Order: sequence, then structure tokens, then C-alpha cells
Amino acid sequence: MRENSIPLIDVTTQNKPFKEEVLQALEQIIDRSAFVMGEEVTKFESEFLAYTGVKHAVSCASGTDALLVPLMSAGIGPGDEVLVPSFTFYATVASVVRVGAIPIFIDSDNSYNLSLEEVEKKISTKTKAIIPVHLFGRMVDMKKLQQIIANAKQKITIIEDCAQSMGASIDGKQAGTWGDYGSFSFYPTKNLGAMGDAGMISCKDESDCRELKMIRVHGSEQRYYHERIGFNSRLDSFQAAILRIKMRKLKEFEQERNRVAQEYFRYFAETKLDEFIRLPMKTKENEYSVWNQFTIRAKKRDDLKKFLSEQKIGSEIYYPLAMHKQRAFSNYVGKENLSTCEELEREVLSLPIFPELSNESVSRVVDALDAFYKKQ
Ligand SMILES: Cc1ncc(COP(=O)(O)O)c(C=O)c1O
Repeated sequence: MRENSIPLIDVTTQNKPFKEEVLQALEQIIDRSAFVMGEEVTKFESEFLAYTGVKHAVSCASGTDALLVPLMSAGIGPGDEVLVPSFTFYATVASVVRVGAIPIFIDSDNSYNLSLEEVEKKISTKTKAIIPVHLFGRMVDMKKLQQIIANAKQKITIIEDCAQSMGASIDGKQAGTWGDYGSFSFYPTKNLGAMGDAGMISCKDESDCRELKMIRVHGSEQRYYHERIGFNSRLDSFQAAILRIKMRKLKEFEQERNRVAQEYFRYFAETKLDEFIRLPMKTKENEYSVWNQFTIRAKKRDDLKKFLSEQKIGSEIYYPLAMHKQRAFSNYVGKENLSTCEELEREVLSLPIFPELSNESVSRVVDALDAFYKKQ
């Protein structure tokens, strides 16, 4: 970390205390030459299961594959419609297009997550699946979503995109345990970050679990006998070993992220910035957010970002262009009204949040915003 600078996220500081233990674990794997799948992977899957309370856990190579594999397993394909939020990361939508299905873009609400009112309006007879994304560490209201889906005439598969929200819960029930499937990413900046790419898929049903396991190894259960089309999305033992070591600290990381978020709320309450910024929605009593991001909506957002950077404070725009406006998806867009997404892409700014961020740094970030708007 540069002196006096406050980064958006600090992966180096986070990983430093794990270095020795990680190197020892990697050395053992090298000595055994057990590089792909194997014992570390199986152990990681069962420890993940214990942490999250999901029924089955199947590791894979990335959070992107953790979306693609369940779509393939559920048999989603050409002509099928899949409801997706437009305000998300590209992989949520691209996975739908990759299986040949049609993404139907849903507007957001003030929680930044997809609007359930819009979901209700956009369900059609062709809707085969929905991917609720628990964005920035906060869950979609899954109870309400399940009620909406239950009213549909046909089976609609729910694939929760939990890439940013491992550990988040509603009524104590974690992300990834509500839908038919859950998709998790362990990209290095996620709350549980590997030192490379890694992913996990959760599911409820035993036969779905078997299917997921086949798809990630070339559609086969027995080597050189292929039951269906799959591909290679195995997790390597290095990443599994690293994730096992880091997961022991994940609860603490979540608590520290919550501390940082509460400090932001406390310091911002002392300023008079309501006219200029909107804070993220506070969580309800039965909700637990894991604060992957602390994202505000800000007037003069781009000038503010520049000002923060001059003060050596990191910030990022997640996301500057909603998915229904991306050229990659232009074939799938009609005349939808996605006005909240379009407001969000103009206004959102994510501020520094990570477990090691001190209260003093949080107050410096808030002071910097205060100084910026007082100048206006
Ligand atoms: C919401 C969401 N979905 C999917 C992914 C894809 O995960 P990965 O980068 O591990 O492939 C990400 C990663 O940034 C994400 O944020």
C-alpha cells in the first residue's frame, strides 16, 4: 500500500499472513503431484458445504463456468428465455447466450438488485430460468422471488449468482441454498479470493449434482466414456488448498467488512451530503450482507472519482454500462425501459471496503467526499 493512499481493495495485505502456510501446502501438493482435483479439492468442497449450508457443492474452474455448467445441466438452450438483471457483470448474461438461450433484461430497484416487480411482468411461457444476482454482497429477496416463480405455469429454474455474496443470508439461510443452483466465484478480489481463478456450484438435487460433476469433466463419469457433452472445468489442487486456508478466516473478514460499512453509515450521518449522494440501502433485520462493495450514488460522479484519485483514494465504477447497452448483446435488445439501470450507470461509485481498512481511513474517505461537495 502506498503511504497515505487508500486503495479500493488491498489483496496483497490480505494474503500476506497466509503466505507461509500457503507455501507449505503447495509444496506438499508438488511432492504428491496431485495437481488437478484430488484430496484438497474434495476437502474444500465439503468444508464449503459446511460453511454455506448448501446440500451439494461441485467445484469448477471459475465463477463464469459456475453459471454455464448449471445452465447446461438444466437443459436450457435455443429458444428458451432466461431472466437476468441488466445491471450485473458480463458473465451473468454471456453464459445464457453461450447455451443459445435468450437473455431477457430486467431493470434494477434501489437495492441495486433486479426488481421483482419487473420479474413478475417479464415472465412469459418461454421463461425457463432466472438468474438473480446477489450484487455487491446483498441478497435478492429470495422468499418473494420464490413466490413469484411458484405462480408460473411451467418449471422455472433458479440459478443464484452468488459470485459477490458467499456468506450473505436472509433469515439465516445463505445465498446459494435458495435456488435450484448457486454459482460462486473465488476470483482474487472476491470476499473469499483464491490466488488465481476458481469457482463452485451448489445444488439441491442429487441427480443434478451428478450431472454437474459430469459436465465439468468432459461429460464423463468413467474416464474415456462420455455420457453427454461437457468440457474441462476442473478446479486445481493449488487453488483448493489456498481456499481451504483462507476460508478459516472468512467469518472474521465478513465481520470486518460489516464494521467498515457501519462506519461509513456513521460518518456519513455526521455530514450533510444527502443532497449530493445516496448511500446503499441499509440491510433489514433478517438480512445479512457481506459487503463485497460499498456503493453510493453520487452527483457529479466522474468529477468526484477524479477528486478522490487526486487524494490517493481508490474508487471504481461497477458498472459503467448496463448489459442491455453492451454491443455484445445488441441482438437481444428490444425497446425495454430499463431506466433505473441507466441512472445507476451514470451515478454509482464504489468506495474502499476490505477487512483490513481502518476506521480512520473510512473517516478520511468520508472527509474527502465532504470536501469535494462543500467546494461545489
Ligand atoms: C456477478 C458476477 N457473476 C459472475 C462472475 C464471474 O466470475 P469469475 O470471474 O470467477 O469467472 C463475477 C466475477 O466478477 C461476478 O461479479
